[in-house]
Amino acid sequence: MPEYLDEVLRQCADDDEGALADYIPELAAVDPDRLAVALCMPDGQLYGAGDVDALFTIQSISKPFVYALALMRHGLDGMERFVGVEPSGDPFNEISLEASGRPRNPMVNIGAITTHALAGEEGAAKEDLFEEIRRGLGRFAGRELAVDERVFESERATAHRNLALAHLVRSYDVFSADPRDVVWGYTRQCAVQVDVRDLAVMAMTLASGGTNPLTGDQVVPRWVARQVLSVMSTCGMYDVAGDWMTDVGMPAKSGVGGGIMAALPGFVGAATLSPRLDRTGTSVRGVRIFEKLSREMGMHMM
Ligand code: DON
Repeated sequence: MPEYLDEVLRQCADDDEGALADYIPELAAVDPDRLAVALCMPDGQLYGAGDVDALFTIQSISKPFVYALALMRHGLDGMERFVGVEPSGDPFNEISLEASGRPRNPMVNIGAITTHALAGEEGAAKEDLFEEIRRGLGRFAGRELAVDERVFESERATAHRNLALAHLVRSYDVFSADPRDVVWGYTRQCAVQVDVRDLAVMAMTLASGGTNPLTGDQVVPRWVARQVLSVMSTCGMYDVAGDWMTDVGMPAKSGVGGGIMAALPGFVGAATLSPRLDRTGTSVRGVRIFEKLSREMGMHMM
């Protein structure tokens, strides 16, 4: 397996298409050539190749896990009152709102910002809510996760669009917190640092029905894992979700830090890192690696 993964990376290494995310200034400063892949099996066995120790910010890959925490608090029907489950067909930072003011799904920014606000106790201080989320993400990964303060500060200082989205949802009373506090916490959530092994374990935790394969910790119940993976299937890759599902065939989530995470229920959790992105904010070489894994290792759901 390790030799095979090395070979997969070797075959994709020369592709230098795409560009670093520069709307978050600090993300334009990362090494664009970093390349890594990791797989986590149902028994917790990990395989990796490339820059497996490289830390990067989780960005939007945090969204399914914070959705899981919000589902725990509000239940399936409760959560659906606030955030929908339909694909928006729009880019991740669009104003994807229904006429009622309900965000279309928890994977686009507007829905993820709302989900962040709903993940904690009503009236909780922004610091306490963030700590609860950071600890929750750590339980999925099986270790404590830290924040990249430089990326956080860089995005916080330029978060005009997310602030606008948060104020818009707040105007419909979908959540009650101060939109500035919610964007502070959501931005910190996106700046949590992971490596590809962490993401593979987090994916396998979802793929195991909520139980972390390393720690044995039942992080969330099966119904939550099921809901999260279902929404990842239809909304996790935004406006390329259909292409991804037909080509690769696994519930997945991308992030502008260059990560992609995918989970095949009962079989594998997988993750890649390569920071150059296409126009939809998806890692170019990450998609290539997943296409190969899907074809060559039968990781497509069919
Ligand atoms: O809110 C943002 O724009 C970023 N913190 C996260 C966006 C992201 O990762 C989109 N996914 N590919």
